[in-house]
Amino acid sequence: MEHKEISKAVISRLPRYYRYLGELLELGVERISSNELSSKMKVTASQIRQDLNNFGGFGQQGYGYNVKYLHSEIAKILGIDHNHNMIIIGAGNLGQAIANYSAFEKRGFIIKGIFDVNPRLEGLTVRGVEIRMIDELPEFIKENDIEIAALTIPKAKAKEVAAIVVDAGVKAIWNFAHTDLVVPKDVIVENVHLSESLMRLSYNLSRLENTDKKEK
Ligand code: NAI
Repeated sequence: MEHKEISKAVISRLPRYYRYLGELLELGVERISSNELSSKMKVTASQIRQDLNNFGGFGQQGYGYNVKYLHSEIAKILGIDHNHNMIIIGAGNLGQAIANYSAFEKRGFIIKGIFDVNPRLEGLTVRGVEIRMIDELPEFIKENDIEIAALTIPKAKAKEVAAIVVDAGVKAIWNFAHTDLVVPKDVIVENVHLSESLMRLSYNLSRLENTDKKEK
């Protein structure tokens, strides 16, 4: 399918559409109108139509959307209609928590290996995946066709490790270290900062508290 340039805002809503449609599929719902989807997702119906029109619509006047079809088309757009081999670098609290979360695998993100520098962790397994030492990294990436590396290491180490994985052929970095990485143009970096999400929560909480005070 050919796609025109899609805005970041639309892309950021697609995983949510995918999740809701998945829930509908589990409930045996075969089709849904944009109005029904709108009331479930708290997004306006016109927003939904507009978003999905970016990809050719998928809907039919008077019928609505075929849930299974839309779900699978969004999966294709998100690139989760096929598996991605992934590694985690940094087998500490966060790295192990990610490795322990089996739902990523259901979405096609297959954790092939976990890497660390701490020899005490060598050979231990997390959900059946072995923790290896960092010197094995470049060869492992090449031999196992690794596309994605999650960085759950101290920020002081992130740049150096990012350079190693990029040299070895990794195409995407899921970066949890609190530092901005500079990578070649054909490598994707997705930064995840839970603390930023928490700060947004705090901002909204403060606004709510201020509104409450004014109303009293
Ligand atoms: P941790 O100290 O439990 O684990 C870090 C692991 O990285 C350790 O096992 C350590 O031996 C390993 N390590 C250090 N240098 C390495 C290298 N060069 N190569 C491979 N492994 C190496 O720390 P935790 O709590 O798991 O946090 C990990 C990172 O994630 C930190 O940078 C932290 O700031 C960040 N973090 C980010 C969050 C986010 O939302 N972005 C949330 C929580 C933590």
